[in-house]
Amino acid sequence: MICENLSVSSDGILLFGGANTVDMIKKYGSPLYLMDERRLRHNCRVYVDSMKKYFGDDALPLYASKANSFKQIYRIVASEGMGTDVVSSGELYTAKSAGFPLEKAYFHSNNKTDADIEYAIDCGIGYFVADNEEEICAIDHFAVKKGITQKILIRLTPGIDPHTYEAVATGKVDSKFGSAIVTGEAERVTKIALSKKNIELCGFHCHVGSQVFDSDVYLAAAEIMLSFVADMKKNYGFETKQLNLGGGYGVRYTEKDPVIDIAENIKLVAETLKKLCEKLDIDLPAIRMEPGRSIVADAGLTLYTAGSVKRIPEYKNYVSVDGGMPDNPRYALYQSSYTVLLANKMNEKSDFLCSVVGRCCESGDILQENVYLPSSVTRGDIVAVLTTGAYNYSMASNYNRIPRLPTIMVNGNEDYVAVRRESFEDITRNDM
Ligand code: LLP
Repeated sequence: MICENLSVSSDGILLFGGANTVDMIKKYGSPLYLMDERRLRHNCRVYVDSMKKYFGDDALPLYASKANSFKQIYRIVASEGMGTDVVSSGELYTAKSAGFPLEKAYFHSNNKTDADIEYAIDCGIGYFVADNEEEICAIDHFAVKKGITQKILIRLTPGIDPHTYEAVATGKVDSKFGSAIVTGEAERVTKIALSKKNIELCGFHCHVGSQVFDSDVYLAAAEIMLSFVADMKKNYGFETKQLNLGGGYGVRYTEKDPVIDIAENIKLVAETLKKLCEKLDIDLPAIRMEPGRSIVADAGLTLYTAGSVKRIPEYKNYVSVDGGMPDNPRYALYQSSYTVLLANKMNEKSDFLCSVVGRCCESGDILQENVYLPSSVTRGDIVAVLTTGAYNYSMASNYNRIPRLPTIMVNGNEDYVAVRRESFEDITRNDM
């Protein structure tokens, strides 16, 4: 199976983190997101341990909480010693409500509003990752108003094409994110940041893309970033304290996706960075990385109940489930691949070609095309979509006024509600 926390019981039921998926549906209702706390903690530890081991004790992975944001996840990643990256006041509020140590929080986004900046400063945010000149000035304005010195990094675009989907490629020069090195903009905004008394420029950030499997991308980005760091030392005597390499390591959605050894990759990036620093005669800055998907994706799956099974002879077969694009918009948005299994019939042969579709009044409401399920698939069967821990709940909507799913955590022999199921009252709460 695509992840080691999946197995099958002797009576053909899919087990996730050891939990019986059919029992989970009986206990908590359908559909639901299931999260494996042990897998989540394991993924955190891979980053924490290997970053400290290969970059040094001042290295810190930040959980990119846009991948999945709710209180318990901040508690878990904090207890594993990670920092976090937030991209909105909503994520920051969630982290704060969970008691996350905000000195280890970094506020991202290409357009922080004045309200975001003021709120984050009032919360005691550790760092802003400023996107451009305008933001540096806005952060400075509020830092002056509050009488504080605010730490920031500046987001740079190293100009790397990460060979990944265009829609999530953010490190290129023409990106809406950051200030480009090649155009001279990065140097210009660095000078501006250095001139602001209430701003403490701590370093630089880049993010090359998402669902990246190729280490070359990080190595190329690191090389460009470090030579910029060396230039800033030479030109302005500026010592870069932190270098943030962003997120982006890929995960396995299907058997076709490669297996990636993150610890080995971090080792390779660390070795390369150290060599480059020596060559450029600069100290290795404290390294930050911002994994999102590779922390949570395979720690989650979604369970649905099958409804109508439609056979259109010589054309197409459909299996409809009791969820869809409101809980997982990723096929509709990116044609993302997923592994789909019939969780209560794992011992049967899968030879029925079908599309697994949602319940919304929209033909684009597809979870996955060309899936093989057992031909006995029928109303009441449990359908599992694997690797949904990232960018599902965080991108969920109430389209068709469908309540959002609960997140049920399994932790060894225990299971508990981490996010409760939305009610109809929740959906109508703001209606006048
Ligand atoms: N840091 C920054 C600045 C980012 O923009 C992102 C993701 C990350 C870290 C985390 O990247 P990860 O490790 O999760 O790949 N909605 C899309 C993904 C968008 C990613 C945007 N930025 C999807 O569902 O695939």
